[in-house]
Amino acid sequence: MNAAVDLERLSPGLQGVPETMLLTIWTRSAYSDGPHSLLNDPLLMALMQRIDYDFRGRFGPPTPVHAVRSRYADERIHAFLAREPEGSVVVLGEGLETQFWRVAHPRVQWYSVDLAESIGIRQRLLPAHERNHLIACSALDDQWLDQVAQQIRGPVFISAAGLLMYFTEAQVLALLEKITRRFGRGEAFFDTIPPWFSRKTLRGWKLSTGYTAPPMPFGMPLGRVPSFVKQVPGLRLLSCPTFAQPYPRYMRLFALLSHIGYLRRRFAPGLIHCAFDSGN
Ligand SMILES: C[S@@+](CC[C@H](N)C(=O)[O-])C[C@H]1O[C@@H](n2cnc3c(N)ncnc32)[C@H](O)[C@@H]1O
Repeated sequence: MNAAVDLERLSPGLQGVPETMLLTIWTRSAYSDGPHSLLNDPLLMALMQRIDYDFRGRFGPPTPVHAVRSRYADERIHAFLAREPEGSVVVLGEGLETQFWRVAHPRVQWYSVDLAESIGIRQRLLPAHERNHLIACSALDDQWLDQVAQQIRGPVFISAAGLLMYFTEAQVLALLEKITRRFGRGEAFFDTIPPWFSRKTLRGWKLSTGYTAPPMPFGMPLGRVPSFVKQVPGLRLLSCPTFAQPYPRYMRLFALLSHIGYLRRRFAPGLIHCAFDSGN
């Protein structure tokens, strides 16, 4: 058994958006074990045992949203790799996500792109694997595009879970355009928050008494997703459910509200799955 890692001492400066990777492992771990869990993730459960950090005190009680997002992305990636056995996966802002081990594909080349301080934590806390390539680089920097494009053959699945809301709309559009132009063919997954929630974070949203979430400038109503996606040449929307729709028993009230089109289109966060083929 590895010794517990005191994250406060390991990285005293972890704050802002990088700190949110601790929030997502905390909430996901509450739904990653046992017969009724959303995810089966023994590596995450072991990881939580090794981290000495007051998750509940910092972030408050867990909700299922991050486990829902991860399971939805796991299923999209599984289906992609079943159709495209030579496909690769790139995860932008991967933090301490253990998706590579949950998906457990025997051949996939998997690229984890995150800021240097977050990659450092990932390197320290998760096992190294010859097919999990770590790239310390902003998702907004072309360096990861150059590196991945040089190394892969075949189509690519790009996932950006819990990341794009921290950028501006113009940055997100430019990033999606670069991805479709550079990789030619593949799929993309990301999640959106609605504008009312974005505004709340810009005013300093307190998730718990001790924790204020970082500002999330990019909010988009689900009803606008189809026209947003159409702005990116070659990008095609496959699905955009609310967080409550894929596994309704975990979010019963929001699943019921999701049936009301007016509420869903204006007020709900969404899980966006697209395909792209730019003909390159
Ligand atoms: C909310 S966490 C999500 C982590 C992971 N996707 C998950 O679901 O557990 C946001 C992640 O985005 C990373 N991040 C923030 N800004 C970034 C940037 N410009 N480029 C790449 N990653 C970034 C943070 O370091 C952090 O790991």
